[in-house]
Amino acid sequence: MSAPIENTFIRELEMKNGQILKIHQLEVGDVGCVVWDAALVLCKYLETADFDGGNSWRGLDVVDVGAGTGVLGVYAAVYGADVTVTDLPEFLPLMNLNINTNKHHITGTAVAQSLQWGEESLERTVDYVLMADCIYYEKSLGPLVETVCSLCSDKTVVLCCYEQRTTGNKPELERKFLELMLEAFDVEDIPLERQDSLFRSDDILIKRFQKKKSHTET
Ligand SMILES: C[S@@+](CC[C@H](N)C(=O)[O-])C[C@H]1O[C@@H](n2cnc3c(N)ncnc32)[C@H](O)[C@@H]1O
Repeated sequence: MSAPIENTFIRELEMKNGQILKIHQLEVGDVGCVVWDAALVLCKYLETADFDGGNSWRGLDVVDVGAGTGVLGVYAAVYGADVTVTDLPEFLPLMNLNINTNKHHITGTAVAQSLQWGEESLERTVDYVLMADCIYYEKSLGPLVETVCSLCSDKTVVLCCYEQRTTGNKPELERKFLELMLEAFDVEDIPLERQDSLFRSDDILIKRFQKKKSHTET
């Protein structure tokens, strides 16, 4: 059993269906302890016309990679997806807290599981991989892409949302991540007009990846 979490502050998030999610964030901790803007943009994209207002998530097997608070996975689970919310093991208490806090809204299922990039595996492929703001340090890029690949069949869709940062090595990290992904995946940029009309921004990108045919044929 993990120790109870103390010193959280709540971010409320109103969904299109009127439900209010309460997401606990930690006052002190690593980057995953708060909700990032890219997660909000992707959450809101999940309930656009591209997903029949959210209705098309019901029954889908979804993994949220580098989930932090778990907000994105919880969001999909409210719309009926069966979600595995994953991060480093130290984030299990926070992810579980947020699943439990919002369980009365969840119409699918949500479980938290450790999934350390390049080191652990869920040993299955899924319908959707969701990832928000996971491109931020060099050492993780290869393992991150390896983990994403391991979750993907030719049918799997990866929705990757990130803030395009211009400082330091961030442009280079983005370039390297895309280079690695494009070895195995085709990519589509989701234009702003298909995103939520309020929760979108020129510098927050949503990319939709699907495995190239040559990487799925045996
Ligand atoms: C910037 S946070 C984004 C959190 C959340 N997706 C959001 O947008 O609110 C990046 C997340 O990646 C996780 N992460 C970093 N390295 C990881 C690794 N090697 N394996 C699994 N998760 C990792 C961090 O713990 C953190 O929760």
